[in-house]
Amino acid sequence: MGKTVKKQRPVNLDLTTIRFPVTAIASILHRMSGVITFIAVGILLWLLGLSLSSPEGFMQAAAIMESFIVKFIIWGILTALAYHIAGGIRHVLMDFGILGETLEAGTRSAQISFIITVVLSILAGVLVW
Ligand code: HEM
Repeated sequence: MGKTVKKQRPVNLDLTTIRFPVTAIASILHRMSGVITFIAVGILLWLLGLSLSSPEGFMQAAAIMESFIVKFIIWGILTALAYHIAGGIRHVLMDFGILGETLEAGTRSAQISFIITVVLSILAGVLVW
């Protein structure tokens, strides 16, 4: 009975043809950057604790920061934080109605938050390296 109905349903199994709107990408990145920031709080507090524990602890923390992979992780954390703040401020501005509640305003502000993040990410790279 239901079989014929099922057959007529449009199916798209080719996932590569699906394009997400920029606002959807902005949204999922904001959640991901929030989770990364949450995990980063633990890592950064541990590193701060180590650096403040003793002069030896400080030297240990400095030595940890010498490694490329650690620098890369810290850069990633700062980039995620930059996006979370840029996207977060966008959210607050939208909530106050400052940005306008249209698709155009949402798309535009998402693009601007990406550009701000790229600039801050480059600055974070300069800071770390
Ligand atoms: C330790 C710092 C922070 C952590 C760990 C954190 C983490 C998170 C997480 C996990 C979410 C939930 C995301 C979701 O449900 O999709 C979130 C949402 C949010 N965060 Fe943060 N956040 C931090 C700092 C900030 C800062 C500095 C801002 C500045 C504007 C901000 C603005 C927001 C906003 C506006 C939302 C709600 C977004 C929405 O309605 O979808 N957050 N945050």
